[in-house]
Amino acid sequence: MTHALAIDGGPKAVAEKLPTFLDAAGRTFGTEEERLVIEVLRSGCLSRNGGAMVERLERDFATALGVPHAIACSTGTAAVHLALAALDLEPGDEVIVPPITDIGSILPVLWQNAVPVFADVDPVTLCLDPEDLASRISPRTRAVIAVHLAGQPCDMPALTALCRRHGFVLIEDCSQAYWAECHGQIVGTMGDLACFSLQQSKHMTCGEGGLLATPNHAYAARARLFADKAWPRDLTSLGSMRFLFLAQNYRMSELQGAVALAQLGKLQATLACRRRQAAALTALLEDVPEVQCPRAAAGTTHSFWLYMLRVNEERCGARTADFGTALLAEGVPSWVQYIVDPLYLSPLFTERHTYGASEYPFRPFGRQVYDSGLCPRAEHGLRNVIALWWNEAYTDEHVRQIASAIRKVARHFSRAMAR
Ligand SMILES: Cc1ncc(COP(=O)(O)O)c(C=O)c1O
Repeated sequence: MTHALAIDGGPKAVAEKLPTFLDAAGRTFGTEEERLVIEVLRSGCLSRNGGAMVERLERDFATALGVPHAIACSTGTAAVHLALAALDLEPGDEVIVPPITDIGSILPVLWQNAVPVFADVDPVTLCLDPEDLASRISPRTRAVIAVHLAGQPCDMPALTALCRRHGFVLIEDCSQAYWAECHGQIVGTMGDLACFSLQQSKHMTCGEGGLLATPNHAYAARARLFADKAWPRDLTSLGSMRFLFLAQNYRMSELQGAVALAQLGKLQATLACRRRQAAALTALLEDVPEVQCPRAAAGTTHSFWLYMLRVNEERCGARTADFGTALLAEGVPSWVQYIVDPLYLSPLFTERHTYGASEYPFRPFGRQVYDSGLCPRAEHGLRNVIALWWNEAYTDEHVRQIASAIRKVARHFSRAMAR
């Protein structure tokens, strides 16, 4: 029996509200977080300068990832900023970035007065395409930010080889891809610096927060200072009130540190659930040719921050936006599209809204024209993406209902086309 779409007044395919990252049912907070938060409160010190919790988080995170240094900070955007500040770029230096990511991957480039240069993406993974990247290099290129999108690792062998060949610094943005793997190596351990977001929706969270990891001692030392006003607190070095360079206060609080530390202990379980249920959904959708499920690229393990569904518009005769709107109405937590346009089509870039009317640093340094056509595969690829919010609390029954919602919407549109 077929039912009318929920958007047309029919019954929802997903009967009850599914757990999301915005409610307790869809997060893993429990007695572990409570115990550590209370420990902080009882200590009387909520600042990391004086407390012990953020330091414990940094130590445990570095150990878990297998890198010598981790520096906690206030957001994932701040973590990217720390990575760039560690490089001490010159104004007008170029950083190659992907056009499909959170804007937090890119804003810090501009804050450091460097210029983001967009490179196109692989049509399947929507992550940076190393070949296209090579064509965007200039004498001013200093670094590459590789974003492991939605949980899918970038082509790291090609990116690391390219960066090594040219002497570029490789920054991995792992905010959406905790513990995803590429040929057996965890993302965040292959580049020079790795950034993580602890924002509310992420695999591990403390509401807002970030972590930078690096094997490089000099980068770690500079990033640590940058997050703390470039204030060397070691009284034996330079004296306590001499500030070494232009910096920020991006410190993480002890309360955030307590929650993040407890969350780190749950990360493996969270990943296992997300991966198992994603595989289950993919199996259930095998007979739905109107959509294409995310498949990890060869040699990689996905960590499913999002489940990126691709709509075969020709096959089902519907625009992705209409498909996504109908799916949302069926009760599936999703973004109708991920981001509607590649980031370079935002007014920040097209109208160069930066510092007053100066357009700095685009003027005088920018050479890319931020306009349609700059990265055709990114533009095309985004058109048929629907991002399903993925969640570690999904049960087998939830996944079954999500699959039946997708099947229902797909069949509705393909039957309408056939008529
Ligand atoms: C890939 C990526 N980079 C950076 C960020 C910025 O993190 P935050 O929102 O914690 O500043 C995000 C946030 O969603 C992200 O997904």
